[in-house]
Amino acid sequence: MNMYDIIIKKRDGHRNSDEELEFLITEYVKGNIPDYQISAWLMSVYFSGMEDAEAAKLTMLMASSGDMMDLSPIQGAKVDKHSSGGVGDKTTLILGPLVASCGLKVGKMSGRGLGHTGGTLDKLESIPGFQINISTDKFFDIVNDTGLAVVGQTGNLAPADKKFYALRDVTATVDSIPLIAGSIMSKKLAAGNDGIVLDVKCGKGAFMQNLKDAETLAKLMVEIGKHNGRNMSAVISNMDQPLGKKVGNSLEVEESIDTLRGNGPEDLTQLCIELGSEMLSLGNIGKDPEDRKRMLRENLNNGKALEKFREMIKAQGGDDKVVDDFSIMGKAKSIFDVKITKDGFVKGIDALSIGKAAMHLGAGRAKKEDDIDPVVGIELLKKTSDKIASGDVIAKIYHNQSELSQDIIDQILNAYNITSDNVEKPKLIYNIVR
Ligand code: URA
Repeated sequence: MNMYDIIIKKRDGHRNSDEELEFLITEYVKGNIPDYQISAWLMSVYFSGMEDAEAAKLTMLMASSGDMMDLSPIQGAKVDKHSSGGVGDKTTLILGPLVASCGLKVGKMSGRGLGHTGGTLDKLESIPGFQINISTDKFFDIVNDTGLAVVGQTGNLAPADKKFYALRDVTATVDSIPLIAGSIMSKKLAAGNDGIVLDVKCGKGAFMQNLKDAETLAKLMVEIGKHNGRNMSAVISNMDQPLGKKVGNSLEVEESIDTLRGNGPEDLTQLCIELGSEMLSLGNIGKDPEDRKRMLRENLNNGKALEKFREMIKAQGGDDKVVDDFSIMGKAKSIFDVKITKDGFVKGIDALSIGKAAMHLGAGRAKKEDDIDPVVGIELLKKTSDKIASGDVIAKIYHNQSELSQDIIDQILNAYNITSDNVEKPKLIYNIVR
């Protein structure tokens, strides 16, 4: 078998056999196939696509190129959630404790933020003392005892994906649906959960900018999971505007705690209920969707979900006083009020621009090595469909700059699209693929 023939086949629109894919992944990870041949093959996949079964095989090979987590020491149904990335997306911080308070086991490996999207680990680390690096045995103990732990990646998960992603990044082949699906699902399969709920974001702040592409990606990831013996569900949700009102690490912890107390923004709460219901369903908890949503709402309102969050913080070494006193996370030195000079209605808020503005404040990383500032960020006081009048404060900027850059203020103002006509509330959940 040789790589040249494998490339020709894919270039000409044919399916690569299981044996060819096995050869490609195994030999590439060993360093026996040069990057230029893999780049040519990736570009061929970009143009020719892959059959579902072919993508499923590639994904499992990528997953098994490294460690496969064995979560069997955790008792009960283990269900994971993955979001394809967005601005202000703090759902893991809420969903984890929420579904754990309903009896599900959540042993979750999360990542850091890069570019305009934030990362769960960075958010959790704004809580003083919170440890994301814990031993595997302790991880199992915490999940068995409290129902929930969120940690950094342990072991060597899907090294083939790491190598592929680095090449895709520099060869303009990131936005290929089979390659995105394979990349996301290889890490999810390696993480070892029985069930996986995917939150596929669709809109201006997401990888998938239109519903057709988001549905194609969701269906393919669900098929890949099922092919490899996992229970799957994918919720396609709107990412035209940031989720919730706060963007930035400690600000997002604050909003998560408010939501766990039953006082969260409507869109964030609704998405958590929807994703939570899918997670409980995969874990065989609750009779039907209504019953599951009732349980989830009840636990947001009766304090059980918040209590779970407190337990997780304590178990992972964090200071659980944060639940009652946000100030222990520190505060930005200055708060700047962004005022609008028009009357009308908010037609849209460009999530990508808000994410980039937050990154420039220091809430995110332009490069992997960059440090972040946990306390800076943006609070959006007005969201899509809200009425505004000239002089209203539409957003607050929490910053640590001696003089706030006008570019950042303009970026936020320009992210707001204002119209004189009434605007309907945008749809949050587009579709669910099971
Ligand atoms: N997230 C991933 O992990 N991989 C992709 O290719 C795209 C988004």
